[in-house]
Amino acid sequence: MCVRASLVLLTVAVCVCLCACDVHATTYYVSPAHGSDSNHGKSPSKPWKTLAKASSHRFVSGDSLLLERGGRFHNETLFIAPVDGFVLGDYGSANLSRPTIVHYRPSTKSYVNCVELVDVDNAVVRNIHLAGCFIGLQFSFTPGRNHSNVLVDNCHLRDLHHPYESYQPSDPQWARAISVVGSGGGAFVSNFTVQHTTATRIDTFFGSGGVFISGLNLDSNTVAQCGGNCYGLSGGTDMHITNSVFLRDAPETLFLYGTTDVIIGTISGDNSIEDCDFNTRGEYEAGPDGCAIDFETSAMGFAIRGNTIYRSWGGGIMVFGHATTSHGFNISDNTFVYAGCVQPRDDKAGIAFMCPGGHKPSGLVSDNVFVTCDGVPAMFDAVKGCSNNVTKINNSIDGTAVVEQPQITFSPPPPTSNATRVTIPALAVTRTANATIRYTLDGSRPTTSSPVVPAGGVAITWPGPDIVMNVRAFHAGMRPSITNGVVIERSLYRPRGSAGIGYVRSNLDALTVNASSGGEAWVRGWAVDTSLPGLGREPVTVRVDVDLQPVAYVVASLARPDLVAAGVAPDPNHGFNLQLSGTIARSLLSGNHIVDVFVVDSPMTRLQPTRVALSPMCTCNGVVCPC
Ligand SMILES: *[C@@H]1O[C@H](CO)[C@@H](O)[C@H](O)[C@H]1NC(C)=O
Ligand SMILES: *[C@@H]1O[C@H](CO)[C@@H](O)[C@H](O)[C@H]1NC(C)=O
Ligand SMILES: *[C@@H]1O[C@H](CO)[C@@H](O)[C@H](O)[C@H]1NC(C)=O
Ligand SMILES: *[C@@H]1O[C@H](CO)[C@@H](O)[C@H](O)[C@H]1NC(C)=O
Ligand SMILES: *[C@@H]1O[C@H](CO)[C@@H](O)[C@H](O)[C@H]1NC(C)=O
Ligand SMILES: *[C@@H]1O[C@H](CO)[C@@H](O)[C@H](O)[C@H]1NC(C)=O
Ligand SMILES: *[C@@H]1O[C@H](CO)[C@@H](O)[C@H](O)[C@H]1NC(C)=O
Ligand SMILES: *[C@@H]1O[C@H](CO)[C@@H](O)[C@H](O)[C@H]1NC(C)=O
Ligand SMILES: *[C@@H]1O[C@H](CO)[C@@H](O)[C@H](O)[C@H]1NC(C)=O
Ligand SMILES: *[C@@H]1O[C@H](CO)[C@@H](O)[C@H](O)[C@H]1NC(C)=O
Repeated sequence: MCVRASLVLLTVAVCVCLCACDVHATTYYVSPAHGSDSNHGKSPSKPWKTLAKASSHRFVSGDSLLLERGGRFHNETLFIAPVDGFVLGDYGSANLSRPTIVHYRPSTKSYVNCVELVDVDNAVVRNIHLAGCFIGLQFSFTPGRNHSNVLVDNCHLRDLHHPYESYQPSDPQWARAISVVGSGGGAFVSNFTVQHTTATRIDTFFGSGGVFISGLNLDSNTVAQCGGNCYGLSGGTDMHITNSVFLRDAPETLFLYGTTDVIIGTISGDNSIEDCDFNTRGEYEAGPDGCAIDFETSAMGFAIRGNTIYRSWGGGIMVFGHATTSHGFNISDNTFVYAGCVQPRDDKAGIAFMCPGGHKPSGLVSDNVFVTCDGVPAMFDAVKGCSNNVTKINNSIDGTAVVEQPQITFSPPPPTSNATRVTIPALAVTRTANATIRYTLDGSRPTTSSPVVPAGGVAITWPGPDIVMNVRAFHAGMRPSITNGVVIERSLYRPRGSAGIGYVRSNLDALTVNASSGGEAWVRGWAVDTSLPGLGREPVTVRVDVDLQPVAYVVASLARPDLVAAGVAPDPNHGFNLQLSGTIARSLLSGNHIVDVFVVDSPMTRLQPTRVALSPMCTCNGVVCPC
């Protein structure tokens, strides 16, 4: 009996645990358009509204937080406290843009993050669009416990820059799309993956500091216009960049110490850059370097295989070295096309060996193909004998061995088109006859198994989430072309003309003057500029003029669910109810006055303020009267 009883108890105990786990793993929803922070947030019909609400929630193991697609969070930061098995993702129609967290930063408040996750394990962040902040995704780890398994998948990041007016000749204070930091020293994270993620107009894509990363997989990502040192690999082991594309990266301001696509610091173990394309790494005019890959300090054992480096401003690969230098590298099977041809300094050619401190690097350079320019060698020693310890075998210079870069061109609808949804073919061509052009839409470098661009183009439907289209051309007996690509910012698509798009809609509901309590006056109404993203989800600013003089401004963002019901606004947050100052209110109590309300400073009103419907209203001796 005793045995049986304890078995029963055991069964009960196990059941309770399972049920408890199930009950506690919850999916929460956030919708900036349809949510309310007084909702329970546990279903798409009762979502929370703000990231502040989500940030104040204490998530437990296995919880998910899903943000609504098409939704835009302004000036909000999502903060996730330590949690295991957390998922940050999206819900809603896949045709809408990814949920977007966008910041508008003035010069004085500039170091704001979009998303910060602290001490997460087994975490997933997917399908999120981040813009305008200083750091897109910040992962912070504290020492004391080892962290593991982070996956960033299919996110898009854009317009992440250093604070305005912060230029330092030696410290550019670059913004980061994805940042991994440790506090206090001794922080450790293993198995950190970023894949199928794209970014444009950023300072850096990936950087880390104060944390040891064991197992970093940066796979199938594309960056365009990544201006600073775009990827930084240091302070870790087993770090890999694979199947990724770098498009036209150049700084947008002068930095006196040079920029590069991948800067490799002090690192050992099994590390690599494989099957990536570096297309036209540039420098700001008069800046040094502009190399695709820079061995800056002392990497031990690093493979660079199967990459194409095309027209880098500085050396395709620069082997530098400060107090020490890099050893045991294996640079094999890469294609260098016109790399380092226009660099007047020593960091030129396909591979530049610098030896600034006299330390000689060692390693293997084999089976690479170089397409060179007149007067620029395939490899260059800045200091005589710098590459003496580097074994060079079976490399070749061959100007005809590589397929020409393909170009993409869209075939748009007529400029008079009013269509709110269009399918635009993206065509691709290359000058190499009979080459086959293949493409991807997931951030990866096209391979021989990627689909072929059809003769009529790849049909891409607008609007939609932002994507990158990459193309690469193949021809039997030749090395494939460099990948070319375009960031297609479909979420910003604004068709012209058609009803409800690109208009200011507004109303002045009431002007209220109250002589009691010394005089009070209120201006109430709503306004939408449908040309703002999301068909006008962003709030507009309203200006109130009294007797032709501006007296007050207010952001029209109060809840007005009736606007959605009436079909005049994409979400409810467009109301205003502004109390005028006591001086103005008292002035309205006597004489005749005109109160005029305008929408200002939005796309449709930037050149000329637009008068709100039913404005102006007038007062005669403190009573609203016909104008
Ligand atoms: C999404 O777009 C595709 C075409 O790109 C269309 O066939 C489908 O109906 C759309 N789905 C929704 C939910 O709008
Ligand atoms: C975002 O914040 C900035 C600075 O605080 C401010 O200028 C801007 O108006 C804000 N935008 C919105 C939509 O709240
Ligand atoms: C973290 O992992 C590293 C490497 O495996 C190990 O040396 C260290 O002792 C671990 N630290 C803790 C707190 O488990
Ligand atoms: C690494 O993390 C991914 C998820 O991000 C997981 O699928 C994989 O199993 C992990 N690998 C190891 C060795 O733990
Ligand atoms: C270098 O890489 C090539 C493949 O690209 C491989 O065949 C070779 O064994 C490697 N050599 C060393 C010394 O790692
Ligand atoms: C030398 O390089 C060529 C062209 O890259 C390659 O086809 C060949 O197999 C290589 N030969 C050896 C001995 O590795
Ligand atoms: C590099 O070459 C020098 C001679 O030029 C030699 O003394 C030194 O040991 C070599 N170092 C390595 C790491 O091979
Ligand atoms: C392209 O194909 C045509 C017809 O098959 C052939 O005549 C021509 O030589 C090819 N050109 C190249 C560069 O392959
Ligand atoms: C687009 O809309 C405008 C204004 O409503 C109209 O004048 C024009 O004819 C429309 N164009 C087309 C191609 O339908
Ligand atoms: C006017 O203000 C007084 C005092 O604040 C208030 O009791 C009264 O309801 C107000 N009247 C109107 C019409 O708002």
